[in-house]
Amino acid sequence: MAFKCLFVFALADHDVKRQEEYVELKDVFAVKVKRRRSAGQQTGGTLLGITLFQCKKKGLKLKEHAIHLNNLSEDHCEIWFKSLKEILSGFKNRPKSLKVFVNPISHKKEAYQIYLDEVAPLFKLADIEADVTITKRKGHALSILKDCSLEEHDGVVCVGGDGSVAEVAHGLLLRAQMDAGRDTDSIFTPVQAALPLGIIPAGSTNVVACSVHGIRRGMTAALHIIMGHHQPVDVCSFSSMGRLLRFGFSAMFGFGGRTLALAERHRWMPPSQRREFALIKTLANLNRDGEDICEHGSWQTRQGLYLNISIMAIPCLCSTAPRGLAPNTRLNNGSMALIAVGNTSRSEFIKHLKRYNSTTNQFGFSFIETQTVKAVKLRPHSQGRCADDVSENEECNTKTMPIISSEGTYPWNIDADLLEVPSELLIRVHPQLLTLFGADMEEAEEAPVKCSCI
Ligand SMILES: *[C@@H]1O[C@H](CO)[C@@H](O)[C@H](O)[C@H]1NC(C)=O
Ligand SMILES: *[C@@H]1O[C@H](CO)[C@@H](O)[C@H](O)[C@H]1NC(C)=O
Ligand SMILES: *[C@@H]1O[C@H](CO)[C@@H](O)[C@H](O)[C@H]1NC(C)=O
Ligand SMILES: *[C@@H]1O[C@H](CO)[C@@H](O)[C@H](O)[C@H]1NC(C)=O
Repeated sequence: MAFKCLFVFALADHDVKRQEEYVELKDVFAVKVKRRRSAGQQTGGTLLGITLFQCKKKGLKLKEHAIHLNNLSEDHCEIWFKSLKEILSGFKNRPKSLKVFVNPISHKKEAYQIYLDEVAPLFKLADIEADVTITKRKGHALSILKDCSLEEHDGVVCVGGDGSVAEVAHGLLLRAQMDAGRDTDSIFTPVQAALPLGIIPAGSTNVVACSVHGIRRGMTAALHIIMGHHQPVDVCSFSSMGRLLRFGFSAMFGFGGRTLALAERHRWMPPSQRREFALIKTLANLNRDGEDICEHGSWQTRQGLYLNISIMAIPCLCSTAPRGLAPNTRLNNGSMALIAVGNTSRSEFIKHLKRYNSTTNQFGFSFIETQTVKAVKLRPHSQGRCADDVSENEECNTKTMPIISSEGTYPWNIDADLLEVPSELLIRVHPQLLTLFGADMEEAEEAPVKCSCI
């Protein structure tokens, strides 16, 4: 079959030492007839031969590499071109048509430019049709995914950061449940998304992209999509009061939720500035939440004061956490990591946050508990707590840092998106519910992860 085909040729531009090399067709993603044209000339021109475009791997990076095969015979080139095209169209995971969502306001508003510069030319080269939507507001991609026709597409692509990725992933999964007629109560068994999702990282946080690419680069992401590299990943569902709220990859409660809620209230600040401001301010007013955590299995229960709780279905790699925010989980082994940071002093807590950038023993603190879980129920108890907690009085500035919003909800950071939850939240993991374009970074050779973090 096509996959086993070896393509042997002599490199034309080595005059002296004609050297034999081979390229496997499974690494080739496009073929073009090469002609010499004068500037501005659109058709015709002197035939030079054919050009193969190969996807080359260098560390975590994927790059395109052109191989020119010189031949002046129209007949030969035509035969080669046609046969190669036929072989290339036989690779079954490679998409021919994509639905693309671009979030034009993510990070420094560079998403559309990244798409135009680094991605669109590669899609065109690979003869992939892209139906592009530049989203106008939050929720726009979700509303399109709920009722657009997906049949003609082989994949969905999101150009943006974690918030945009989460919205598109949620949209794809919600759509799959609607198509399957699933009632999304809190105990339903979800069906898999119909199409794989490709992520072009262009946000201020890109932990999902980095978990499947290991690197924040448009070209690498585009080539994973073009080559049809499939990576199934586990997904969480978040339900409250018996109803599904959304699908996602990670959740943070306590410090992580509050920091985001505070940053959201300062939307007028530039993104990096407001994140830093929120982080420092939340640290200064470090709050202890009382909560019950129930873990699945035979539902073990914990009750106590916690500073920060993370529940993550994927490792969430980023530069400040080279092994991930949740190094103790895998992309698709059917479990989530529960990391609960108990009460401690501010300085110990800061020490813990800094330890994320180490590669060993990130959670080696007596106040941190880690568990591998299938489901978690989290029930916060924080009303009126500050007044009772005499020792913490000076840290409890409820005027500047409301613990709960005026609506009586609790702030959760779900994939960098603020979700206000009124009561107990049930988080369940669903093994391999979504397929992403990418690879398992655990199996990749060690290389520094270059992605921005939460
Ligand atoms: C705590 O909060 C920080 C900052 O929001 C976040 O990066 C981290 O993953 C959270 N989780 C734990 C368990 O500390
Ligand atoms: C998934 O992988 C993590 C890390 O290796 C491990 O601790 C956990 O037990 C695994 N989960 C399952 C269900 O095998
Ligand atoms: C929480 O930790 C702080 C700092 O170590 C301590 O002062 C406080 O008493 C603790 N609160 C409880 C209820 O254990
Ligand atoms: C952790 O961060 C510090 C300061 O930014 C840096 O010097 C150190 O090399 C980092 N360690 C790792 C393992 O990345």
